[in-house]
Amino acid sequence: MQRILLDTDPGVDDAQAILMVTAHADTKVEAIFTVGGNVGIEHTTRNALTIVEAIEQDIPVYAGCESAFVFEGEDAAYVHGNDGLGDSSLRPKSRQVEPEFAPTALIRMATAEPDAFTLVAIGPLTNIALALRMDPTLPEKIKRFVVMGGAVTGQGNTSNVAAEFNIFADPEAAYVVFEAWGRSGKLIELVDWEATIRYGIPFERVEAWRKIGSARSKFFDTVSNRSFDRPSLTEGRTKMFAADPLALAVVVEPSCVTHAEDRFVMVETGGMYARGQTIVDWNSRLGKAPNARIILELEAERFYQLFEDGLK
Ligand code: BDR
Ligand code: CA
Repeated sequence: MQRILLDTDPGVDDAQAILMVTAHADTKVEAIFTVGGNVGIEHTTRNALTIVEAIEQDIPVYAGCESAFVFEGEDAAYVHGNDGLGDSSLRPKSRQVEPEFAPTALIRMATAEPDAFTLVAIGPLTNIALALRMDPTLPEKIKRFVVMGGAVTGQGNTSNVAAEFNIFADPEAAYVVFEAWGRSGKLIELVDWEATIRYGIPFERVEAWRKIGSARSKFFDTVSNRSFDRPSLTEGRTKMFAADPLALAVVVEPSCVTHAEDRFVMVETGGMYARGQTIVDWNSRLGKAPNARIILELEAERFYQLFEDGLK
């Protein structure tokens, strides 16, 4: 059984990812840590509670950092709605957030059971960076670390065109995380925005999922409406992009990956145009040991099937 600690900023595709991971038989999510990102922390925390309550999962939710380390980043309310869940106005009826601060909870759990957990980050890396500053030995205690973030050849999805949202939202935090993981000798498994585009989900398939009729598929339909019904987000596209579910597919079934490359990855924190870019030393010019395993290809059908399984 793979035991997961999930750091997230729900977020429509974060919600979809939680549907997927909680449906997988060999996986158990033991804590959700929220971070400000797609929308503010009050929304992302409330949304995490709404999601676990809606799908009847007994997963504790811990609130983490509300803003980026140094400079405030852009949010992504345009994509996810002002409430972060597609302006669905869903609220938890009774679930409450835990009193402990998320980075503290992460350190506590990892320290109590070293090498027991897969850490998954599908939002800005602020909580993880802070936890690393509080406990630099954190990488040694984590079994696997999977990050949704970056655009490995500079084809991002933010106003800084080379940067992907999760990294651009807090480049200093991402810098701390990539640097620290590199020092530990362990690899971050990186699922980037360009892979998300390569493995977009055909709209015909998504349409069928909307009609499954289960409580989970209805929840998916309610929160994801913007991803398929809003012309400004869908025009000219034939596929739905689902970054966080793609990362969770790699988490729950690593054998679906057919091509990955280990490379040294840096995060640009300055730059006139490139703040928040993930810069990859593709040709090992720096002679540095890799700090990331970049997921380049995977079995698309398995990804789609895992997504569908989460909606039944
Ligand atoms: C990432 O940014 C967020 O908007 C999504 O939730 C995902 O984690 C994609 O770039
Ligand atoms: Ca996210």
